[in-house]
Amino acid sequence: MTERPQEPIARLRTLRSVALRTPDASAAAEFYQHVWGLSRIEGDDGVAWLRGSGPEHHILEVREAERNALGKIAFAVATPREVDEAAFRLAARGIPLVTEPGLLDQAGGGYGLRFADPEGRLVELSTQVEAVTPRDVNGIEALPRKLAHVVLNTTDIDAACAFYTDVLGMRVSDWSEHQMVFLRCNSDHHVIAFNQAPWTSLNHVAYEMPSVDHFMRGIGRLRHHGVTPKWGPGRHGPGNNTFSYFTDPAGLVCEYTSEVEQVDEDAWLCRVWRRVPELSDLWGTAGPPSKDVRSHMAGIPDTGRWWEK
Ligand SMILES: [Fe+2]
Repeated sequence: MTERPQEPIARLRTLRSVALRTPDASAAAEFYQHVWGLSRIEGDDGVAWLRGSGPEHHILEVREAERNALGKIAFAVATPREVDEAAFRLAARGIPLVTEPGLLDQAGGGYGLRFADPEGRLVELSTQVEAVTPRDVNGIEALPRKLAHVVLNTTDIDAACAFYTDVLGMRVSDWSEHQMVFLRCNSDHHVIAFNQAPWTSLNHVAYEMPSVDHFMRGIGRLRHHGVTPKWGPGRHGPGNNTFSYFTDPAGLVCEYTSEVEQVDEDAWLCRVWRRVPELSDLWGTAGPPSKDVRSHMAGIPDTGRWWEK
């Protein structure tokens, strides 16, 4: 009898939030609050928690650190029992916990655990995080509703893809040649994408606008603040989402997106996209990414495991 493959450690429901670490935390937090359209809910000099207009308690944490790095990626699971079960399954796979299952000591609270992926990124699974009433439900303002996706630079795209599919149960939606892989955990085409790169780092964080009109008005607000797109606006092939990339005061790349393709789990066929201009820029409005934005997306090497230093 062949051995049954191990089950993923949990069933991820959504990408909740991302944490950024940077020497320019206060300038970055100011930008995300006053220009980008998030609302600051808590924080002091060293850390800021910022909320979108959707029901998530916070979608961004910005924390003071020595150098730019990814702080954490947080996913939602359904129940505390699922968090406990994930701890057992991680142990069975020999993956050590960074934080044991328990109440999370952070804004919004919740019950969760944390562990590191193979490249030292901190991954959090949580449930029962304080829910909030969505803001601006009629879409009067051009506010980011939620995180859309995080793109991560990896030195081994196959190993990264294997870990996130096998351990975290994510599904491959598409490949962009053997350069990028797009992973989903719900009907959104992707919440995580890996990009093959010379070193591990954060590539960019994307925020979802409620519609393409909000997306364009958001770009307009940034322009009013003297912040112009580093790449875009345009529409990508994989995911069929609109894109406009900017850099925050810390030099990290942030993106407005909208109209992310919705995947029918039973009918979706993964494809491999060729990396040609007409597929990465469907509208033909964006042109190729500049050297400058590519350099910001590459960032600086991030060895992760910051909590051990
Ligand atoms: Fe993106």
